[in-house]
Amino acid sequence: MIYKHLVRPLLFRFPSDYAHELTINMASSMSKVRWVLQTLGAFYEYSDVSLEQKIFGLKFKNPIGLAAGFDKNGTTCPLMEKLGFGFVEIGSITANPSAGNPKPRSFRLPKDKSLINRLGLNNDGVKTISRRLRKQSISIPTGINIAKTHNPSITGKKAILDYQTSFNLVKDFADYITLNISCPNTEEGKTFEEPEALNTLLDVLKIKNDASLPAVLVKFSVDLDDRQLTELIEICEDHAIDGYVATNTSSLREGLKTSSSAVEKIGNGGLSGKAITHKSTAIIEKIAAQTNREKTIIGVGGISNTSDAIDKLKAGADLLQIYTGLVYEGPGLVKKINRGLAEYMEKRGIDHIYHIYKS
Ligand SMILES: Cc1cc2nc3c(=O)[nH]c(=O)nc-3n(C[C@H](O)[C@H](O)[C@H](O)COP(=O)(O)O)c2cc1C
Repeated sequence: MIYKHLVRPLLFRFPSDYAHELTINMASSMSKVRWVLQTLGAFYEYSDVSLEQKIFGLKFKNPIGLAAGFDKNGTTCPLMEKLGFGFVEIGSITANPSAGNPKPRSFRLPKDKSLINRLGLNNDGVKTISRRLRKQSISIPTGINIAKTHNPSITGKKAILDYQTSFNLVKDFADYITLNISCPNTEEGKTFEEPEALNTLLDVLKIKNDASLPAVLVKFSVDLDDRQLTELIEICEDHAIDGYVATNTSSLREGLKTSSSAVEKIGNGGLSGKAITHKSTAIIEKIAAQTNREKTIIGVGGISNTSDAIDKLKAGADLLQIYTGLVYEGPGLVKKINRGLAEYMEKRGIDHIYHIYKS
């Protein structure tokens, strides 16, 4: 209520880039003040045994995580824990620090409850962020999302080396690592979603049969067609990947209520939020089917209420993440969804979240 009637109208008066910076700066400051954290925890945290899961040997007190991109530099984790998140994913982090693309680089589409962004992987770089996160102690799992440095001159072998640098620096402290493979890797805009490029990357990172590594997940774009998805999953399975994050944003502009002239004026960028909900759920369904639901799936893309969350769990997701939903609904969304899931299960006599699948 307070968010929708007071905070959101205020934040939405500012351009999207500025509103996010303001939010992150405030969240980082609040993360350092113990009484603020305690107060927020009392208000936002929610627990129910039916929501708890052990995955990758880690305890997830609930399935709702913070999606990559919201906290790229790992400065707000203590606050996110107290806002009731079951886990956080920091990043994307890259080997070299990057200022990202020029502003404006993020845009709201309120009619579609969606966003378009072309931030360009701005972050402090893996060394600084690793130092920051190593010092931090929170009780919820922290995933680290890594990507190739946003620099079109880093291609081919150099691109793999760039990825490897980040991977080697985070593997000792990350609870899990997500490989963000949908960002451009060559001057022609090709990505590690090219089957050969992905195969080489996974070969070099030597993920298969290395018990010392944390769980390694691969994050797919929402725009993959069936054939591409099948082929990429086969490659990931050959390399014994532990799970999938489905999905990243879309470069398409399908089915939007926002006028096409307004959309055109915004230009390039990844579309997130309500507009990609169903496409991302369909990808989860395909991954679950192809992997016989033996691998962990983090479902992300347009979750803005309990019903969206249930759809993704029914499709085969084990965990969920939100970003754009937070912008439109506010931080209370985490507790709202968790409570909604617990009530949904109680009404239907489902004893545990894992059993929502195909229920
Ligand atoms: C402004 C913004 C920045 C993002 N940055 C990243 C990123 O750095 N790495 C990544 O893997 N995903 C990034 N994402 C994608 C989100 O993690 C998520 O996959 C996508 O937005 C779909 O979820 P949503 O509809 O809940 O936002 C970003 C999304 C937004 C809106």
